[in-house]
Amino acid sequence: MKKILALIVCAMLLLSCTAALAEKVGVSMPTKDLQRWNQDGAYMEEKLKEAGYEVELQFASNDVPTQLNQVETMIDNGCEVIVIAAIEGSSLGTALDKAGEKGIPVIAYDRLLMDNGNVDYYATFDNYSVGTVQGTYVKDALDLDNAEGPFVMEITAGDPGDNNARYFYQGAIDVLKPYIDAGKIVVPSGQIEFDQVATPTWKTDVAQKRAEDILTANYAGGEKIDAWLCSNDSTALGVTNALEANYGADNWPIITGQDCDIANTKNMIAGLQSMSVFKDTRTLADRVVTMVGQILAGEEVEVNDTETYDNNVKVVPSFLCTPVFADANNYQEILIDSGYYTEDDLK
Ligand code: BGC
Repeated sequence: MKKILALIVCAMLLLSCTAALAEKVGVSMPTKDLQRWNQDGAYMEEKLKEAGYEVELQFASNDVPTQLNQVETMIDNGCEVIVIAAIEGSSLGTALDKAGEKGIPVIAYDRLLMDNGNVDYYATFDNYSVGTVQGTYVKDALDLDNAEGPFVMEITAGDPGDNNARYFYQGAIDVLKPYIDAGKIVVPSGQIEFDQVATPTWKTDVAQKRAEDILTANYAGGEKIDAWLCSNDSTALGVTNALEANYGADNWPIITGQDCDIANTKNMIAGLQSMSVFKDTRTLADRVVTMVGQILAGEEVEVNDTETYDNNVKVVPSFLCTPVFADANNYQEILIDSGYYTEDDLK
């Protein structure tokens, strides 16, 4: 009996030692409001745990002070690496300074952390390419090099506080601007510059309101719109809602998006959205788990871009994953066969 007790005590001691030895990783996500961040958070937590780490995962309700507080708490709680998808790229300076003082490495997740030197790595999808994929989709769908035109287009971009938003916009506009300059694409609202087309907070209702105003001012007679370039799915949803309420189904435009959110994928299947750039959360999370492992093992961290992402203090070594697009023709293969969604998710 004594032997058994001793064995149990030993086993418990061993377990508590192992637990104490598990390195802790902090994961700070911007919000639960958007489908993708829930997936990013959940998948990363799962993979980090599988790799033997303890995980402190927090969502910040799109509130900057909350995120600041959560990251500082992760530092106080002994996280040895912190992964952050920022709400507002420039607003986490105090927490980053604190991480720097304690020598805690920080990985910027999906969105670059700006204006601070304590950002060690950046893992994201190639943001400029996301825009290029969207712009090229519009170009090909309208056959801009051959068709006579002119075609009518409007533009909805992302949150100015998110460093990614300008990359998405720029990638798309670099493809389409020559056609705008040549008069093959016209933009009746006259709103083309990033600051005119941005959607603060990326919110659907904000995008919807702006789209409604554009429709009222420029399309009250049901004039045809050929394309509405939208930087992501939450904004595409706002534009689609505005069009559904104010616009004829026969004239339905090409609408772009990004993330392959469930609502938007359903819209693609129903013909209400043309495409969405697919950034497989699993690919990005796997990359970050690899980075965390390499950092904690003191190994060289694998990156594939050391030039593009200047955060105003340093060029942050980055790993850029490659985005692809999904549409009604290939969603089955890309989203269902790959196990990202089930058929039921999309019913
Ligand atoms: C992400 C997009 C997302 C957007 C809104 C961007 O930083 O890269 O995937 O749609 O934020 O959350």
